[in-house]
Amino acid sequence: MTDQTKQTQQDTASAQDGTSVEGRPEDRVVIFDTTLRDGEQSPGASMTLDEKLRVGEQLEALGVDVIEAGFAIASNGDFEAITEVSKLVRKPVICSLARSGQKDIDRAAEALQFAERARIHTFISTSPVHMKHKLQMDPEDVLQAVIDSVSYARNKVDDVEWSAEDATRTEHDFLCRTVEAAIKAGATTINIPDTVGYTVPEEYEALFNMLKTKVPGADDVIFSTHCHNDLGLAVANSLGGVRGGARQIECTINGLGERAGNAAVEEIVMALRTRSDALPYWTNVDTTEIMRGSRLVSAVTGFPVQYNKAIVGDNAFAHESGIHQDGMLKNTQTYEIMTPESVGVTQSSLVMGKHSGRHAFKTKVSELGYELGQNAVEDAFVRFKALADKKKQIFDEDIVALIDDEVATANDRIKVESLTVIAGTSGPQKATMTVSIDGENKTTEATGDGPVDATFNAIKALVPHEAELQLYQVHAVTEGTDAQATVSVRLANQGMTVVGQGSETDTLVASAKAYVGALNKLFDRKEKAESSQLAL
Ligand code: KIV
Ligand code: ZN
Repeated sequence: MTDQTKQTQQDTASAQDGTSVEGRPEDRVVIFDTTLRDGEQSPGASMTLDEKLRVGEQLEALGVDVIEAGFAIASNGDFEAITEVSKLVRKPVICSLARSGQKDIDRAAEALQFAERARIHTFISTSPVHMKHKLQMDPEDVLQAVIDSVSYARNKVDDVEWSAEDATRTEHDFLCRTVEAAIKAGATTINIPDTVGYTVPEEYEALFNMLKTKVPGADDVIFSTHCHNDLGLAVANSLGGVRGGARQIECTINGLGERAGNAAVEEIVMALRTRSDALPYWTNVDTTEIMRGSRLVSAVTGFPVQYNKAIVGDNAFAHESGIHQDGMLKNTQTYEIMTPESVGVTQSSLVMGKHSGRHAFKTKVSELGYELGQNAVEDAFVRFKALADKKKQIFDEDIVALIDDEVATANDRIKVESLTVIAGTSGPQKATMTVSIDGENKTTEATGDGPVDATFNAIKALVPHEAELQLYQVHAVTEGTDAQATVSVRLANQGMTVVGQGSETDTLVASAKAYVGALNKLFDRKEKAESSQLAL
């Protein structure tokens, strides 16, 4: 049996449970997910509290070890997210970011008070360019701040991570001094971020080797990678760091993050799993939850996943060319180094039609991993029947889109009740629309430059607002002209951004629902912001 055959058999076997094949305890890599902090920090990717909680629950299902749920002092929204994620998600360690000042650390500790296991992650820049221009501090003052912040955080919690921001552009001697000081002050994890995505794998590997060899106490802490993807090297660099002795990787779902993003958790985990012969390290991640996590993060942020993205792109397991298809039919190992099932991709299966009953629908819903209450199942079933009347073939993806839509809009105050649009070559296009606001129907007519513009103008007339439309995006859920469209709309107002989504076979109805969904979120966030102002 070839190594590849052995690997694929192992992959297929463990695809049932999705867990990695365990190796030696010293080769275990801690997965620290920062989708809710560094990921959410990227422009336009902000999430509501409810969305953060859904992502938090999914991260727990994925089996990550640490969730960085926010930066407590940055905003009330971050503080609340850390508090609520701490209450809801009990298995992983919950972490808050904090700068080196006491106020930051106090706020982080307060936000983490309900966590089963809490970590404070404090950081300060150590590179010459950051110390001089950003911090305007001397190196000796930075060193003192490291000691003070880590000791202060250790008085609050036992689990303290310290990061040397811009570590990969820091002078080695100074980096060693700060890391040693952080360890002496009580840090339990030392993070060496490649903040600007500048390093290359061999250099990053050597950096960890150097630190582990030179710094007294290095064996008593876990070293961590944190790589940004400016040169497209974030995953390769993270793996280089692990070869150099790091045993924690900081990463995000879909590689979400500042600028070009962070290292993608799905790529790291699948690289370690698929090439355990070359990279004998293992994680606790249940890889069959990868796809669900990817879709959820894409849906709540409105950031699409590129078609050819490794592991989670639509084309990651598609074989188009004749030669490849022929090979795949003879033996899937010809062109597949991991199975789609191992990352939670179920083959597009024809699930049910308009004659399917409640029981079959309920079973399908739980097979797809949803736990819905009786009322939610009933509402989703009504929508499923309506969809089955319009669309000949219903696939798993259709049901996922339908339920996600149902869950996201269940508590909306404004709902789209009806929409008729006149489109065509002779404009102006006209939309007649009814929405219900707190149960009361309102109707209007509006024209526009195209049917979408007319629809959005109707919404603006019915629900006057100042928000700016930042993104309008349409995605077909499955193939075919009767496919459902999932539309994402991002609105921004007074520093807040929200994303709404709608799925329907009619793209214009989906567009209206997405816009109205975004407005619901915006009003909700404004209301919360105002009431927390009043409470202060
Ligand atoms: O990129 C970075 O340096 C960070 C730190 C705050 C860890 O995100
Ligand atoms: Zn970062």
